[in-house]
Amino acid sequence: MKTPIKKFTKMLHGGDYNPDQWLDYPDILKQDIELMKKAHVNCVSLGIFAWATLEPEEGVYNFEWLEEVINNLYKEGIYTVLATPTGAMPHWLTEKYEEVRQVRENGVRNLHGGRHNFCFTSQIMREKTRAIDTQLAKRFGNHPAVILWHISNEMGGNGSDSSCHCPLCQAAFREWLKNKYKTLDSLNHAWWTKFWAQTYTSWDQIHSPVSNGVTTVHGLNLDWKRFVTAQMVDFYKEECNTVKKYNKDIPVTTNMMGFFKCLDYFKFKESVDIISWDSYPSWHGEEDDVNVAILTAASHNTMRSIKKEPFLLMESTPSLTNWKSINTLKRPNMHMLSSMQAVAHGSNSVQYFQWRKSRGASEKLHGAVVDHYGKDDTRVFKDVTEVGIRLESLTEMIYKTINKPKVAIIVDWENWWAIDDAQGPNNIDMKYIETVIDHYKPFWKMGIDVDLIDMEQEIDNYKLVIAPMTYMMKEKFGERVKAFVKNGGCFVNSYWSGIVNETDLCFLGSFPGIIGEVVGIRSEELDAINECYPNSIIYNNRSYEVKDLCDLIHLQGAKAEAYYEKDFYKGMPALTRNEYGSGLAYYIAVRTKADFNEDFYTELIKKIGIEKNMNVKLPYGVTVSKRCGEDRDLLFVQNYNSDSVTIELDKQYEIAESQTTISGKLELAAYDCVILVDKK
Ligand code: GAL
Repeated sequence: MKTPIKKFTKMLHGGDYNPDQWLDYPDILKQDIELMKKAHVNCVSLGIFAWATLEPEEGVYNFEWLEEVINNLYKEGIYTVLATPTGAMPHWLTEKYEEVRQVRENGVRNLHGGRHNFCFTSQIMREKTRAIDTQLAKRFGNHPAVILWHISNEMGGNGSDSSCHCPLCQAAFREWLKNKYKTLDSLNHAWWTKFWAQTYTSWDQIHSPVSNGVTTVHGLNLDWKRFVTAQMVDFYKEECNTVKKYNKDIPVTTNMMGFFKCLDYFKFKESVDIISWDSYPSWHGEEDDVNVAILTAASHNTMRSIKKEPFLLMESTPSLTNWKSINTLKRPNMHMLSSMQAVAHGSNSVQYFQWRKSRGASEKLHGAVVDHYGKDDTRVFKDVTEVGIRLESLTEMIYKTINKPKVAIIVDWENWWAIDDAQGPNNIDMKYIETVIDHYKPFWKMGIDVDLIDMEQEIDNYKLVIAPMTYMMKEKFGERVKAFVKNGGCFVNSYWSGIVNETDLCFLGSFPGIIGEVVGIRSEELDAINECYPNSIIYNNRSYEVKDLCDLIHLQGAKAEAYYEKDFYKGMPALTRNEYGSGLAYYIAVRTKADFNEDFYTELIKKIGIEKNMNVKLPYGVTVSKRCGEDRDLLFVQNYNSDSVTIELDKQYEIAESQTTISGKLELAAYDCVILVDKK
């Protein structure tokens, strides 16, 4: 197990701390440290939006305050995650150098304002970033308190498409394309530009896709999104190289945002030492919290799966957000449960936005550990303290463990972009992420850990790989699937798969393209149904309603396991199974409701021998995640119901905190998380 943060091998507990906003209030800064100790905070993230304070004028640095804060915290055992401040630019920078400000899709350059709004291509921006990062790294890179670099903040999160359309970006895009395609002929072919007379005769004619320009060349749209990710990764790497120059042992991270569509986070894999992300689920926004819990669990899993190592929950709210339409407080116990959920899925931290509520501006009413009230006798402060104490007491036990799923679900950003751009059977919403979650749900309910990986990761170590809607079938992925199934793996594929290649050209011959032989079917047509054409399938003598999309397929070696019940395709196969090499491949031809997925996967895991984390039928709203260690596994039993539940345990365990044994009945209070130890 890798432990990238060498200086600090404990569970992190703390969060974003903005002392730069409080330099005129020395009493508050003093009080902060006292309160942090009370809340069992052991590290804070500093300087995230402090560029204007750190460098008030170009080339004039003001670091004394930061050094004092870092030192004062360190004296009390509180470590620092130090940010590079590029998340928000100071006025002097945007005023003097116009090119650092992004140009929107409509060609208009942004004024100063907001954050995450700099041009990633601008050499001036890179130079000014290098300058401030160099100074920070020289001064603090070897400070004993600094354990991790927090590069920028939520890169790309500017509320639009994350991209800048300025002339510098256009030129860089063309260079990126030249490097990729070498010749215009090969680009024209890959993008199918003869369509609507779009053939490019010079590289200079290429412009980013914008609504008053070219939008119909899907290969262009896709490559632009790839370029935006590549450019951000490049900017990010430059920042990493700058700070690492002064101490290569301090690891780097950048805080991600889960299913954030604009950036393909898997492309950061090599250059991030430890993955971190900001999680803001909408708890208590629905009839119950189960769907939110499942979406959040899948998000944690995706973030963990980028490196398949423990990650950091870098931000979460201790109470409420203030940027959603409705911002509901966490109900009693939910703060502990949602914090433990992150840990259960592989986080080695619980960090908050924010330590103290800012006094003014747009986040003054966002949840924080310390309120404007300024004291520790609040519900939120108590909740946070309890999490701190729990992490502290379990740190040894948890720190070096990690989830080791035998099941993987494919979630691929490029595929997501291509699906949403496709102009096919349904142009309102093809529901890619929703579909991925629908396939994850039964596993959450059964208490089985799952990795969510993109098409570029290895799959050999899994027993079951599920690839819903792999519309874009990447060639290497196809090859991996063939080898995986041949060698005994089980693969599940679905409708709307294997339609296009990596540049969005349709496969000639038959769908699902290169994995047709693995699944043993040919898809002929895809029907988008509506209420006027209800349909259902019959599977294991039970009828299941279907919705949205029905694939009309022909068997080419596979056997049918379910059939359509209505319409002109009554009797056609709706679920197939193919034996390929020593493995099995299933093709689900239709979008079903939750009942089918649950029944199908419950049977499948029995058939192929995948064990649940705990061998019991879990009550509704309860799940179990497992972090595996050398001599013991930790089972996080989580209850997302607002009522208590009882579970009949399958064997004897130890309760992590009390180290007392337990067997028979396990009671979980409303929104409770019990951690059980299973000794090997
Ligand atoms: C995050 C951001 C923080 C803060 C927080 C509020 O997206 O990184 O700086 O704005 O949201 O929830």
